[in-house]
Amino acid sequence: MTQFPKDFLWGAASAAYQVEGAHDVDGKGLSVWDVYSHQPGTTYQGTNGDDAADHYHRMEEDVALMAELGMSSYRFSISWARILPQGKGEVNLAGIDFYSRLIDNLLRHNIKPMITLYHWDLPQALQDEGGWEARATTEAFVEYAKVCYQHFGDRVDLWSTFNETVVFIGHGYITAQHPPGVRDPARGLQACHHVFIAHAKAVAAFRKAKVAGLVNQLAVIGFVNVLQPHTAASSSQKDIKAREIADAIFTHWFYDPVLKGQYPPELLNMAQTALGAPQFAPGDEKLLKDNICDFIGVNYYKREMIAANDGESITTQNTTGEKGSANEFGFRDLFKFVRNPDGEYTDWDWEIYPQGLSDGIMQITQRYGKIPIYVTENGLGYKDPIIDGEIVDDARIDYLRRHIEATRSAIALGADVRGYYPWSFIDLLSWLNGYQKQYGFVYVDRDNNLNRKKKKSFAWYQNVIQSHGQIL
Ligand code: BG6
Repeated sequence: MTQFPKDFLWGAASAAYQVEGAHDVDGKGLSVWDVYSHQPGTTYQGTNGDDAADHYHRMEEDVALMAELGMSSYRFSISWARILPQGKGEVNLAGIDFYSRLIDNLLRHNIKPMITLYHWDLPQALQDEGGWEARATTEAFVEYAKVCYQHFGDRVDLWSTFNETVVFIGHGYITAQHPPGVRDPARGLQACHHVFIAHAKAVAAFRKAKVAGLVNQLAVIGFVNVLQPHTAASSSQKDIKAREIADAIFTHWFYDPVLKGQYPPELLNMAQTALGAPQFAPGDEKLLKDNICDFIGVNYYKREMIAANDGESITTQNTTGEKGSANEFGFRDLFKFVRNPDGEYTDWDWEIYPQGLSDGIMQITQRYGKIPIYVTENGLGYKDPIIDGEIVDDARIDYLRRHIEATRSAIALGADVRGYYPWSFIDLLSWLNGYQKQYGFVYVDRDNNLNRKKKKSFAWYQNVIQSHGQIL
């Protein structure tokens, strides 16, 4: 049986807004999520991240738990507005201090930090100036990235710029479920282009700064995308064609710019003809071409079944009332997302399909060559059963076990997978589903002072890590 490579990282992941809390203390500026989540009707039962898991104040306790779990890496994001309250200009030293202490604590326990610079929490001050639709935001992002390189670059080897552009742009500008809550695909495509430009400029600045990481190895910088493999619902030509279109829109559009340095040409042409966007500024093509990233992070939760749409109208709302399925993304003339009649689904209607992880990794490896890949998120959103005071999350153990096996299969097939980060280390805020959708190895008692408690999966993952994947 294929073994995990010797240096394979066993991690877990989180994001600042979902875990930190302390949304307005120690000089932090407000982010778009701090503002948006306070507007009536935007989130599940009005939940917000004001306190989240209060990781900001309990960081040392949390890192001690990570060490006990045996994690060799921790993926977290930095809150831009904690570092630069206005998004640019004055630096908040208390923010620098928090992340610096977090990094030092991790390193003390031999846990490699992996930083995500942007996990959706744009400073509100920049949104007020146009957000990602404004070209100037790309410059503000580079300014912010450089502050992070300067303060943390001597200790952090693994960096990524953006998390899941398809989600924050798609929901921000097409389904209107994330800030800025707009329904306008043309504006979304322009905002999306600016994200790729901000990424390319931040990669260029990273290389220019020769960010060293630990012991003067050159650190690396990547990009994190959703990995959502599409399967044709039947072997008919029209379903196969529909799947190809879904791949081009949801996968190639988001991976090609950072791994090939260009958009898929046919799709770009279609978008510019139909919507007049994205518009390029002089030099953009070269900027993308010159700044291919070092690795790709993939977040995998589910696959999607695709069929040709024969003109019927589609509305989907799953059992928990969560909206925002991909069917709402506005490509109804081209294809539709259908349920797999034989599929295994979560309470949120996400298909559990471990093979999709290995298939997706192999699709990337085939399209872009053998690039380094990290599975930067993977996990089961679940209402964990509590039995006699213990959190018995057997379903999570089963989900993770099968997905780690799928990761091993991809390695056996020749993919260069270097780490696996379950989502999440701790129960945290789900953007649109509040605190009821749990993902962590560590439970947070929301009725009792946010106290931490280890779940059954904690001991299981501890064994997985200790045995380097042998006990699966
Ligand atoms: C990913 C995000 O899309 O999915 C995370 O990077 C998010 O931030 C995770 O929490 C799970 O999504 P949800 O909607 O179940 O919280």
